[in-house]
Amino acid sequence: MTSTINPETLSGERIEELQQIAGDHMFMHAVQINDWRGNLKVYVRGEGVWVETADGQRHLDAMAGLWYKSAGYGRTEIADAVYAQMTAIDSPPAGSSTIPQIELAGKVAELYPDHGARSFFVSGGSEAVETAVKMAKKYQIINGKAGAYKVLSRRYSYHGGTAMSVSLGGSPAADPMGPLMPGAIHVTNWDSYRLPYAGDPVDVAIKCANEFETVIKHQGAETVAAIIAEPVSAAAGIQVPPAEYWQRLREIADQYGVILIADEVITGFGRTGEYFAPMNWGVQPDITTVAKAITSGYAPLGAAVATKKIADAFIGGAGETFKHLITFGGHPVAAAAALANLNIFEREDLVGNSKRMGNYLFEQLQSLFSHKIVGDVRGGLGLLAAVELVADRESKTPFPASAGLAKKLPKMLFDRDMVSFRAGDVISICPPLSINKDEIDFIVNAIDGALSELEDELGI
Ligand SMILES: Cc1ncc(COP(=O)(O)O)c(C=O)c1O
Repeated sequence: MTSTINPETLSGERIEELQQIAGDHMFMHAVQINDWRGNLKVYVRGEGVWVETADGQRHLDAMAGLWYKSAGYGRTEIADAVYAQMTAIDSPPAGSSTIPQIELAGKVAELYPDHGARSFFVSGGSEAVETAVKMAKKYQIINGKAGAYKVLSRRYSYHGGTAMSVSLGGSPAADPMGPLMPGAIHVTNWDSYRLPYAGDPVDVAIKCANEFETVIKHQGAETVAAIIAEPVSAAAGIQVPPAEYWQRLREIADQYGVILIADEVITGFGRTGEYFAPMNWGVQPDITTVAKAITSGYAPLGAAVATKKIADAFIGGAGETFKHLITFGGHPVAAAAALANLNIFEREDLVGNSKRMGNYLFEQLQSLFSHKIVGDVRGGLGLLAAVELVADRESKTPFPASAGLAKKLPKMLFDRDMVSFRAGDVISICPPLSINKDEIDFIVNAIDGALSELEDELGI
């Protein structure tokens, strides 16, 4: 059996063989096997925002892989950097480092608003979250709050698939697996479309933020280590809060001596038009988790980035040591990929493009309100947007499950050569940051066409 990926050489027979092996031996992450068995999409090539299947079909990836392909597909210079590092020294002896790991720590600090920042590199987003939370707890211990083990987060958020990060999330996209981590406490998430309380959106956002304060007061500040939240919650349907929300979180964390963790696994590195999302609101979190776009998915890497204030607490003796170890965390080959990737970001001003094209995308998406089933268009902060569909715009009533949106829409979009992810009541849009206006028009036209087809089918 060969492992060729040249589409020209993939016969129908070979594709069938691959389908058979996958169907018999593979798990796809978080997808029912029956939903893809025999019909798995297999991609063999990508360039820019476009990807090509084994049988030669071309699609626009409107989800940047899974929220990560920020530099776009086919960047051979990242492959070259990976090759160079792997052939020089792929990984160093224990207790030492390599040039790309060191340079990446410097580059992250240069791009991060606190230039004194220190990075703990890991392999992905879930590990970044685990690391940030352990770092916060240890920081509290070092600073005399040894009983601070509780971590506050929000319902409907997503923080990863490992045991601790699942406890912190509140998303139906993850299996809960019995009792949560002790000390995981959830509060109301921000929702700009269906405001959790009546009133002016800014007042409501502050009220939502204040729920953290209520819990801290009730539990006792000495028991709470950290607050963790995504600046823009993708899991909750691309929820962009008003500036006052994160500003209030910062005030609460300061007042009660709680560590503020921004989970920027999706938003980090330019997705919201700034390198880091809280920069949009003038807020500096204590620890930031990143992954995905740091390498644009060319290699697995994540990090917990601590401000100088937090990181300096770990300089001292045995008691101050952060005893946290992940063998392949920050692998040199992945670090080399990250550096080459971030070099592209700077050279091509991808973060500026995110802001400019994000504004254009948000403007163009407004045209979709011509469909009666469009209830809300969210975004406006970089290249991260969502279209929410409703059965009744006035009352914001969702479609019943029997309407089958989650099955129908991905196919309708795919038939128009657009790759989506979990499109149903909410269509998320998160393309590579290198996208241009024509490609945005392509996405908006695909959604427009799919919605017309859906309306016809539903008799609307
Ligand atoms: C906000 C957020 N945090 C953490 C994670 C977990 O990252 P990973 O899947 O790389 O472990 C994700 C994944 O989508 C995420 O969106």
